[in-house]
Amino acid sequence: RQKVILDCDPGHDDAINIMLACASPELELMAVTTTYGNVSLERTTYNARVIREMIGHDFPICAGAELPLMRNRLSAESCHGASGLDGPDLPKPVRDVEPMHAVNFIIESVFRYPHQIKILPTGPLTNLALAMRLEPKIIPLIQEVVLMGGSVDVGNWSPAAEYNILCDPHAARVVFESAAPVTMFGLNITHQAIASPARVDAFRKLGTRNGEFAAVLLEFFREHHEQRYGWDGGALHDPMTAAYLIKPELFEFRDMHVAVETQEGSSYGRTNCDYWRVLEAQKRSKVGVKVDADGFFALLTERIARFP
Ligand code: BDR
Ligand code: CA
Repeated sequence: RQKVILDCDPGHDDAINIMLACASPELELMAVTTTYGNVSLERTTYNARVIREMIGHDFPICAGAELPLMRNRLSAESCHGASGLDGPDLPKPVRDVEPMHAVNFIIESVFRYPHQIKILPTGPLTNLALAMRLEPKIIPLIQEVVLMGGSVDVGNWSPAAEYNILCDPHAARVVFESAAPVTMFGLNITHQAIASPARVDAFRKLGTRNGEFAAVLLEFFREHHEQRYGWDGGALHDPMTAAYLIKPELFEFRDMHVAVETQEGSSYGRTNCDYWRVLEAQKRSKVGVKVDADGFFALLTERIARFP
């Protein structure tokens, strides 16, 4: 089983990624670590506890960064609602978070299981960057970073930048420039996976509490995407990270250098992806370019069916 840490800011699509990981025997979820992101840290951490309660799992949760490294904090209520998880009725969580900080959890886990842990960030990269700076010796011991963020082409929170990277461009730079292998799922691929009404219906037709939970989450998530892009569903960004570990054959990749713009200005937070490999000698990340969207949603439906 592949050991994974989900470092996230739930978040509708983060929630679906947690569900996918928990339902999949191919993965061993070491912990969910939380960061500020879509909403405040307090709220994303609460939401992680809500999701754990909802699906009846017992993974540990460690809270992490409250603020970006340098810039002011952004938030995305316009997309995820005031709670960060608007839409469904949420249960009151009982179990609390662990006392350990997310950054320390990441460091300790990588030392304990060298070359065996994949870290899946689906929010700002602050926790991982802090871990890499606090204890640089973990960097060569991280098996892989599989992140949702950036874009080969256009942005979503600015014309140039994708939200997670824009939230903390400096942290993103630390991660992309590190020696750790990075696999990136950016908007160029996540926008190929739209949770259309028919795909959402497939969750609902499972007739289960959690199938309904997933459906209602995605119906709320759709509103922002309808308004901004005119799409009939939300782009299901974050679950590509876990799906890739479960069924890599759903995806196509291209290796390219990724540079993050940290100069404030109109390109702040943009991932400059060297698609044509103009810069020969640079570190390359594995960048997702194409997904079998039907296969991806079929996997999600099959796995969400395993919950009550
Ligand atoms: C990313 O931003 C967040 O709102 C989503 O959860 C996803 O991680 C997409 O840009
Ligand atoms: Ca997210």
